[in-house]
Amino acid sequence: MSANQANLYKKSTQDAADHLVQPWPSAGSIGAESRGMLGSGEGVYVHDEKGRKLIDGPAGMWCTNVGHRNEILADALKEQAMELSYNSPWYTSNEPSAELARRIAEHAPGDLNHVFFTTGGSTAVESALRFAQFYNNVRGLEGKKKIICRDGGYHGSTYLSASLNGSQRSRNWMDFADDMMIRLSCPDPFRRPKDMSLEAFRDQLVAEFAEAVRVNGAENIAAFVGEPIMASGGVIIPPEGYFKAIRDICSANDILFIADEVVTAFGRLGHVFASEACFDVVPDIITFAKGVTSGYFPLGGMVVSDRLLSGLRASNHPEAMYAHGLTYSSHPIGCAVALKNLDILEDNLLEYAREITPYFHEKMKMLEELELVGEVRGMGLMACIECVADRESHNPIRLDTEVGVRIDRHCQELGLLVRPLVHMCVMSPPLVITRDQIDTMAGILHEGISRTMRDLRQEGIWQG
Ligand SMILES: Cc1ncc(COP(=O)(O)O)c(C=O)c1O
Repeated sequence: MSANQANLYKKSTQDAADHLVQPWPSAGSIGAESRGMLGSGEGVYVHDEKGRKLIDGPAGMWCTNVGHRNEILADALKEQAMELSYNSPWYTSNEPSAELARRIAEHAPGDLNHVFFTTGGSTAVESALRFAQFYNNVRGLEGKKKIICRDGGYHGSTYLSASLNGSQRSRNWMDFADDMMIRLSCPDPFRRPKDMSLEAFRDQLVAEFAEAVRVNGAENIAAFVGEPIMASGGVIIPPEGYFKAIRDICSANDILFIADEVVTAFGRLGHVFASEACFDVVPDIITFAKGVTSGYFPLGGMVVSDRLLSGLRASNHPEAMYAHGLTYSSHPIGCAVALKNLDILEDNLLEYAREITPYFHEKMKMLEELELVGEVRGMGLMACIECVADRESHNPIRLDTEVGVRIDRHCQELGLLVRPLVHMCVMSPPLVITRDQIDTMAGILHEGISRTMRDLRQEGIWQG
């Protein structure tokens, strides 16, 4: 790294510590923190302030599906900015958003044929929840407002979307619309009761759902919101048949099924949308973001069923307004980038992601030979390495030891960025990753976890 570049990094680090408020800060360091500075990226790699070239193991945050520095997307950004950089979606439309809506509708399951664009995932989920409320108000069902969500879920940082979130750590110091939420158990097979079969576990979860509907009354419940795979909860894949059973209960009780595909859509599981392709379910609404532009521009949205929209159009209240929209709804640049991103996915990247997936899991699964690793699980190009203190009881390593952060630190020294989640490490590389790069990633993870095991033993924290 040149001295000039090193100075630039130093200055940016200071600027961040002096002036930048980072997302999800702790009170003790809010507004006074600098995080690892990245300078550039190329394909699956990013370069950092220490001059290191790192494999971007989490693809940013489930974002960079086509990889960094993709010229086609970069050109699309510039060309659209030179054509029409912005238009007010209140009074006008633009061509890229109209075309993108059509192409997304072509990929969406069932009668999900209309798209409302937002600025990201939280605003997509927020829009879906506010739509569900509006839908019931127009139908004269003003009491039908509660939302079913689950422990372990993550849906965003706006007030309503955050109220769905299920991680205790994020709930302690913030306010939420808790009286609107019905919170159910996390469908985590790894943490099911010992000696319970997967089928029995699924039946228990479905019975819990049915009981919640009975106790609260279907007339009070607007929607269920769920990620097909709980991503930030640790790549939690519910038992087979779970979603189908829940879909059936929702349909029978006039409860909207909202699939939050902010992570799973646009290639992560090898398909544009995963709900039907991977879980055999047609939702009423699907939310998406992240991979829709591979993170090159902030864009999200919801795809809505024709049934809901035509119901509204035919209602007794044609003047009732869905008073919800964003200055950057249908942003022409975001939509132009998303169109090129979709071209790349359709051309061969979806197929490639499906092809490379078994190799990715074969390599990740090998990490289970390490004593600290309780389970490696995943689907598509999503994997989670869950560490445990004790393989028998599945007890996580004491949370204050932040095992994931320790592993990440070692892996960064070796050339890999990891997404640490308390005692877990989440891996979701760009879909363009090659076999050789997967080998390197798996090798680094093996060494990084081994070094962490050594440290934990030396510090007397773990004796496994
Ligand atoms: C499933 C899911 N929904 C919603 C969100 C919120 O998206 P954003 O951070 O773009 O607002 C996330 C973010 O990670 C997510 O994983």
